[in-house]
Amino acid sequence: MPRSERSSIAEPIDVSSAHGGPTGSPYTLVCDELDKRFGATHAVRGVSLTLGRGRTLALMGENGAGKSTLMAMLAGELKPGSGSVAVDGRVAVVHQELSLFPLLTVAENLGLGREPRLFPGGPVNNRRLRADGRAALDRIGVALDVDTVVERLSPAEQQLVEIARAVALDPALLILDEPTSSLEPSQVDLLFTATERLKAQGTSVIFVSHRLEEVFRFADEIAVMRSGALVGAGPAADYTRESLVASMVGRELEQLYPERSADRPEAEPVLRFEQVSGHGVREVSFAIRPGQIVGIAGLEGHGQHVVAELAAGVRKPRAGRLVLDGSTRANGGFKSPREAIAAGVAFVPPDRRTSGLMLPLSIAENLTVAAAHRLHPTRLLDNGNEKRAIQPVVERLRLRFAELEQRVGELSGGNQQKVLFGRWLLVRDLRLLVLDDPTRGVDVGARAEIYGVLRELADRGVGVLLVSTDMLELIGLADEIHVMYEGAVRGSVPGHSATEEEIMTLAAGAA
Ligand SMILES: Nc1ncnc2c1ncn2[C@@H]1O[C@H](COP(=O)(O)OP(=O)(O)OP(=O)(O)O)[C@@H](O)[C@H]1O
Ligand SMILES: [Mg+2]
Repeated sequence: MPRSERSSIAEPIDVSSAHGGPTGSPYTLVCDELDKRFGATHAVRGVSLTLGRGRTLALMGENGAGKSTLMAMLAGELKPGSGSVAVDGRVAVVHQELSLFPLLTVAENLGLGREPRLFPGGPVNNRRLRADGRAALDRIGVALDVDTVVERLSPAEQQLVEIARAVALDPALLILDEPTSSLEPSQVDLLFTATERLKAQGTSVIFVSHRLEEVFRFADEIAVMRSGALVGAGPAADYTRESLVASMVGRELEQLYPERSADRPEAEPVLRFEQVSGHGVREVSFAIRPGQIVGIAGLEGHGQHVVAELAAGVRKPRAGRLVLDGSTRANGGFKSPREAIAAGVAFVPPDRRTSGLMLPLSIAENLTVAAAHRLHPTRLLDNGNEKRAIQPVVERLRLRFAELEQRVGELSGGNQQKVLFGRWLLVRDLRLLVLDDPTRGVDVGARAEIYGVLRELADRGVGVLLVSTDMLELIGLADEIHVMYEGAVRGSVPGHSATEEEIMTLAAGAA
């Protein structure tokens, strides 16, 4: 089933009745020789796995290794090609991509498919629906108004609503596919405190995360997939960070972050924010010089996405000036993406599925959109030219796919993210690269490549603006970090000496 057509609501499925679950056994989950192909792609190869009651398993692997496919089969959402699954009780799933109904309220989403009725078969009991919704949010310690329409929530808040919905089902097995990729540290803590409570009741948890710190903090067991096969499984205590990474990527990964470059002579900034205000940000001033990677940190909702959009020319400031390559941008914004590209400005937006990728189009088309005028100067498609240009990007970013003509929506989440980034590597004469959470869901090996590419671009004189929720990434990569609080820059720290505490303190509004 194509990913984009997958039903957006995971009905609770009682796999135990369907598969004769091992009731009374110490295992919540037993799967045997599970296998799945999508056309030419052998996504999952003969995976056998057991999980004990009340245990937490981290399922690890590179982008495209088959994690989401395996979990869809465990949840009974995807029919295995062969093999069997038995779960002792119900399964609840939180998917990698958000799947709430945007126009419904939080309470309506939480109660969907099991709305309380005023009388059997009668209208929905709204008072009960809202009370149940509040109770579900309480269970994971989240304070949100249940009457809010979901499209008004931030991605992190939507993620928490999805988690609350899954937890409310009291599942025997809770499956979380990258639940933390858009969450902040405090929200991650909420999530894992809630899962601890569930574990105490005997619920088993499987989660996927590309953030290794979380894996070692929260998992009892680790299973590693590579190219569809299970290549290792055991107690988390048996793994080190290094051995886990090596097992995932099949090679030693020497260093995640590239060396910082020596200070360059002060050059004219590529982009200057001069007292820029509007859209919730206030009097923001900073500069990005050629060769510099400038980081923007902050808790969700403090204006960092707006700063990225202003820098990329997607939005215009209400007050103040944006100076690009020494001249004030005519109106502070670009009329079209084409105008931005002509000025050498590139933008990687945070939400790949709604604003970044053209999901029904092919991988090749998505990779070449920004460079189309160069690759197809005559406006006739030239496949040879295109393939030659794309190949180095595919290799560098370790892009996993069956064929370039495949729809980009069929790629695994992390590989979609690589396409969104990779399209800018085909553009010549970049001046400014603006990235908003470019490595969300990207595996550790590909992340190292992306970081290397960013440093190389900077060394060639490109200015890079990096907005990220991942503080370690900012510290590892940025030359300078500006921390946002309530729409303003609260403070700035040099990347080489910044600490997480320092950034958190500023992000919380302390000086
Ligand atoms: N509906 C589909 N049609 C075609 N190929 C698919 C489909 N769903 C998944 N695949 C392919 O199966 C492989 C495994 O994908 P899967 O989504 O399970 O990876 P993953 O381990 O979850 O990766 P990520 O970390 O990026 O989320 C990939 O090569 C992917 O392109
Ligand atoms: Mg996945």
